[in-house]
Amino acid sequence: METFPLPSVTEKETVVQNMFTSAARAYDINNTVLSFGLHHLWKKLTISLLEIREGHTVIDLCGGTADLSLLAAAKSGTTGHVLTMDLNFAMLRIGLDKVRSKQAPRQGQSPVVVVQSNAEFLSLKDSSVDRLVVGFGLRNVSHLDLALSEIFRVLKPGGRFACLEFSTPVNGVWRQLYRFYSFALLPSIGKVISGDRTGIYEYLPASIARFPDQESFCSMIRDAGFRDVTYRNLSGGIVAIHMGVR
Ligand SMILES: C[S@@+](CC[C@H](N)C(=O)[O-])C[C@H]1O[C@@H](n2cnc3c(N)ncnc32)[C@H](O)[C@@H]1O
Repeated sequence: METFPLPSVTEKETVVQNMFTSAARAYDINNTVLSFGLHHLWKKLTISLLEIREGHTVIDLCGGTADLSLLAAAKSGTTGHVLTMDLNFAMLRIGLDKVRSKQAPRQGQSPVVVVQSNAEFLSLKDSSVDRLVVGFGLRNVSHLDLALSEIFRVLKPGGRFACLEFSTPVNGVWRQLYRFYSFALLPSIGKVISGDRTGIYEYLPASIARFPDQESFCSMIRDAGFRDVTYRNLSGGIVAIHMGVR
């Protein structure tokens, strides 16, 4: 069923970035429609599992339109710091507007700072971060092993990492239904809502099918140096939250 030709590693960054630039304006609404609103619950649970405390420095890597950043900022309090780091200017622009409109009237949240940055080469000091979260981002980087080793490098010893990502549904029937939805229906709906011409909603299911399953991804996280690596399936394994401790 995997029909969309995925870009090679050398062209992946340019192709993927062009897709997100094209999809940015409709990204949030498409997320809500295509996941039937579930992405909000998945994101809330990810942040609650990350055990963010008052005063923590938190990175939302591949943070895009800053949903996870805003949830994290409510946990790390006025003495904490949240950085939304993403390569894509158009996605960050929308994230920044959202941060400005949602943060100003509220008290007790960490300021969210938006930074254009590549997950494979983070401009952060070693051992400088308490918590790092990535939502639906690592599937899109060109070199997953490089991004994981950067995440490990910037976390403090004892610091926690959580990755929310599409994964492999555990039940065979559920897996077939999900594949039908994601390959046959989702691209058309996504295209109608966003008017996209770059193929991002064909790339989405193809890139999910190519991403390591739950256990293989655990092994990669362990290989990057993390301990206590676990995962939790959500919605029958359509997505999984992987966690590790530096
Ligand atoms: C599917 S969006 C996820 C946005 C947000 N985290 C969320 O959960 O809604 C994936 C994001 O990863 C970003 N991205 C892809 N490759 C990246 C890289 N090498 N470094 C930083 N960000 C990257 C894209 O620009 C895009 O904003």
